Amino acid sequence: MPDTFRALRVEKDPEQFRCGFQELAPSDLPAGELLVRVSYSGVNYKDGLASIPNGAVVRRYPLIPGIDLAGTVVASSDSRFREGERVLATGYDLGVSRDGGFAQYARIPSAWAVPLPTGLTERQSMALGTAGLTAALAIDRLEANGLRPEQGPVLVTGATGGVGSIAIALLSQAGYTVEASTGKASEHDFLRALGASQILSREDVAPETVRPLEKQRWAGAIDPVGGRTLAFALSSLLYGGSVALVGLTGGGSFAGSVFPFILRAGNLLGIDSAYVDMPTRERLWGKLGAHPLPALEAQIAQEVAFDDLPAALATILRGGVRGRMVVRIGG
Ligand SMILES: NC(=O)c1ccc[n+]([C@@H]2O[C@H](COP(=O)([O-])OP(=O)(O)OC[C@H]3O[C@@H](n4cnc5c(N)ncnc54)[C@H](OP(=O)(O)O)[C@@H]3O)[C@@H](O)[C@H]2O)c1
Repeated sequence: MPDTFRALRVEKDPEQFRCGFQELAPSDLPAGELLVRVSYSGVNYKDGLASIPNGAVVRRYPLIPGIDLAGTVVASSDSRFREGERVLATGYDLGVSRDGGFAQYARIPSAWAVPLPTGLTERQSMALGTAGLTAALAIDRLEANGLRPEQGPVLVTGATGGVGSIAIALLSQAGYTVEASTGKASEHDFLRALGASQILSREDVAPETVRPLEKQRWAGAIDPVGGRTLAFALSSLLYGGSVALVGLTGGGSFAGSVFPFILRAGNLLGIDSAYVDMPTRERLWGKLGAHPLPALEAQIAQEVAFDDLPAALATILRGGVRGRMVVRIGG
């Protein structure tokens, strides 16, 4: 490992907040069994929040953000991982309370590392990243709760975002009829190419007033938006349907009614990919590797140079991303 390496770091003290590139020494990194030379990371909404003063994500400063990373093990004190092996890590405390993926090197607990799944390059794994794992987990939970393609269409909200776009592709590949809602009128062709059969506007799924029971439309929903959209999705479920709640880009609270639950046997499934157990994580990454990803990667991923990462973080906070941004760090 070189004497210094480059990292994007956030610092906060009572006087000021800073987010910028720094040269760090290996001793600046936390302890951990694996030292990883990072090739790619990804830009997630949570990373955007970590890059601003009041994002309410970072739990200690200074910190290297980046909840996703992929790269090569350069030193390991865990016999399960050897030097030269390619790994990825997403979630846990990365980029939140422990230095994450926006650096040329990362030192991580071996318990957080997943061997790079067969079928995926490091770049492809980061084109999926936390968003891909989360979309796969949401579908897994919906299916464990009984969802099947023949039961009816599935709604995906925040459709052009990371979680939304990958969820559409995975659902459509699995034979589901997908209806997608988006605030980007210019991206309907993109959503159809991913597999959406019907496209709704953001307003269609977040009316000013949500009635306790709306017209029954969807057997399931994957919702990265939350807020009024979540209330509407719940009220519009077919009997026995489920909403997998993923995020909050449209609001962190919602006003709902008990009627979708007690009159239509609706379900609200909470999704958290950050601390999902390792067996589930490895199983879902294995499934993601088995999909024909070169096409999906070309459709959803745009590459960002490490130098351009600050601008990319600002873009994701504005809701301006289509698909996923993959950050090339050393790849
Ligand atoms: N639970 C978990 O484990 C987990 C994991 C990953 C992400 N998340 C959360 O899930 C959410 C989405 O993450 P992501 O990585 O997909 O983010 P993203 O790539 O930024 O996508 C979010 C999408 O939400 C829509 N959106 C943005 N602002 C909105 C607003 N004011 N009202 C309604 N829709 C809006 C936009 O899609 P359209 O323009 O197409 O409408 C945007 O592209 C975030 O809240 C993130 O923190 C949670």
